[in-house]
Amino acid sequence: MPDRYGVMGQPIAHSKSPRIHTAFARQTGQDIEYRAIEVQPGSFARAVAAFRAQGGRGLNVTLPFKEEAFTLALDRSERAERARAANTLGFSADGRIWGDNTDGIGLVRDLTLNLGLPLAGRRVLLLGAGGAARGVVGPLLAEGLAGLVIANRTVARGEALARDFQDAGPVSACGFEALAGRRFDLLINATSASLQGEVPPIPEDVLAPGAWCYDMMYADAPTAFVRWGLTNRAAGTSDGLGMLVEQAAESFFLWRGIRPDTAPVIAGLRKKARY
Ligand code: ATR
Repeated sequence: MPDRYGVMGQPIAHSKSPRIHTAFARQTGQDIEYRAIEVQPGSFARAVAAFRAQGGRGLNVTLPFKEEAFTLALDRSERAERARAANTLGFSADGRIWGDNTDGIGLVRDLTLNLGLPLAGRRVLLLGAGGAARGVVGPLLAEGLAGLVIANRTVARGEALARDFQDAGPVSACGFEALAGRRFDLLINATSASLQGEVPPIPEDVLAPGAWCYDMMYADAPTAFVRWGLTNRAAGTSDGLGMLVEQAAESFFLWRGIRPDTAPVIAGLRKKARY
């Protein structure tokens, strides 16, 4: 009997996680089964309990349940505490649920290891202040940035997020119009605007020479933010496919104690997409 894992969310039908974890398992010789589990809002805790009762070993959690997963976990990693959200759950031998958050480290590993972008000493602009942004602020600051500016449509929300991480590094917040005249080495989009084909109203001269644009969202065609970067002659652009695979690899490592090679998995998914 393979060990059972899965990802819970809604919607979940188009999740790439089963394909990613199945590839990891094949590559590392681990006998696991991983499937996507659609859960209705209001029944997340019940679904987790049922999965566990049927012998489930661990879960990934995606929208809209990451905060609920965090609440459900009795043992939480520091990065989950900071994010106030969990994307990875596991069940320890004594039956306790543990929760971790691998999104931020997934982003950092994609930027530094896959794309070769060092973060220490860099000026980084993070667009958005929702759950996706909160999950990456701590791991980004841990890289020793020169500064992290959080720009958000609702300025108070960005300010609250920056306040929560004051002790973790040089972080501040502002609205989009306050970015005029400022320069950054890396722009990271954590707004959901990109999914609707929109880009927040940021001045194009925020790109310092050599600056990159990174969209935490991904799609089978270039996202609106990646297109914005191309139009404004960013030195490089990327969507969040690598981050998706890296956060999965970190979850796999937490569950199985073995780190898969992500490069062939990213390349395989990219080949299936249209670009
Ligand atoms: P998630 O968990 O994906 O981060 P969220 O918590 O709803 O989702 O946050 C969505 C983020 O995208 C927020 O930063 C939101 O800005 P507000 O806080 O002002 O709502 C941002 N966002 C969504 N649509 C946007 C748009 N069209 N333009 C600019 N920002 C947008």
